[in-house]
Amino acid sequence: SDPDLVARAEKAKAALGDRLFVLGHHYQRDEVIRFADVTGDSFKLAREAAARPEAEFIVFCGVHFMAESADILTSAAQRVVLPDLAAGCSMADMATFDQVEEAWDVLAEIGVADVTVPVTYMNSSADIKAFCGRNGGAVCTSSNARRALTWAFDEGPDGPAGKGAGDRKVLFLPDQHLGRNTAVLEMGFSLDDCVVYNPHRPGGGLTAEQIRNAKVILWRGHCSVHGRFSTGCVDDVRARIPGVNVLVHPECRHEVVTKADHVGSTEYIIKMIDEAPAGSAWAVGTELNLVKRLAARHPDKTITFLDRTVCYCSTMNRIDLPHLVWALESLAEGQVVNQITVDPDTAHWARVALDRMLALP
Ligand code: 13P
Ligand code: SF4
Repeated sequence: SDPDLVARAEKAKAALGDRLFVLGHHYQRDEVIRFADVTGDSFKLAREAAARPEAEFIVFCGVHFMAESADILTSAAQRVVLPDLAAGCSMADMATFDQVEEAWDVLAEIGVADVTVPVTYMNSSADIKAFCGRNGGAVCTSSNARRALTWAFDEGPDGPAGKGAGDRKVLFLPDQHLGRNTAVLEMGFSLDDCVVYNPHRPGGGLTAEQIRNAKVILWRGHCSVHGRFSTGCVDDVRARIPGVNVLVHPECRHEVVTKADHVGSTEYIIKMIDEAPAGSAWAVGTELNLVKRLAARHPDKTITFLDRTVCYCSTMNRIDLPHLVWALESLAEGQVVNQITVDPDTAHWARVALDRMLALP
């Protein structure tokens, strides 16, 4: 990366000192992540943001929903900055508040809203998190989805004997793959226990009977980056590299995760590779910046991308060094740019849902 920009980022960061805290998601570019004070998956970053009351400015090198969560979890005086406002997440955009309200009305008409606990993946807008908070639900991330779903089924907002005890359902937003992979591969539900609610069809494209019989109602959302990995990729890499370990993110499709050897969040993926013995071979199904970094860090291991084609998350990649330098220099000059703020009512209820997640055992 441009040495002049690197020097400017270093200078602005030094000028801000302890007033600044920079968080970096594992999918960020090398040129950006080197400036992060802490790197992590979305769960770890949410906890880190909440644990920095002394930082006046939190610069979030990640995507919009992560910065919103940081704003919700920090105090009113702290400012959260996203270096490029166009860094969204296409999966989060697949569930809008109006669509989710409409789906809830459909469940109410059928008479099952009372026994349904809404759980949203972190990758969702603050108003979807707030919807879950208001309706007795929680947030989860890819590192605690099983615990969150177990909580939803066994405990729920009013304890084991509360809402719909014994006959409870979960509405899982917005990633159908994380929901299905968790329910079926980690919790013993069958594929038939899951239905997919399509927000673009009347009634979600489901009959009342299908909804009544389901245990897990999956929202029809997905990640276009992880959706590109196919079972063909797994077969292909196993043929090319005998003995390879296939390690994927749970946003991958169910049939891909079923064929893989290991599945987990970005933090889990890093831990697996860091702890793997020298000489072992790994094919990793997640965003390419992270896979390339892992390969560079472990020259004694064979680390390859699961797909033969290139696959970056284009919105994560929008945070580049020029944007970071602009954000840091602006802060150092006393100007807060690209601040992410969530309105107080939404923040209150989103926090209820986030706190339920943070309290999981
Ligand atoms: P992690 O929580 O595993 O870091 O995943 C976030 C994400 O956006 C994956 O696409
Ligand atoms: Fe969203 Fe997928 Fe990018 Fe993650 S990798 S931020 S889920 S688009």
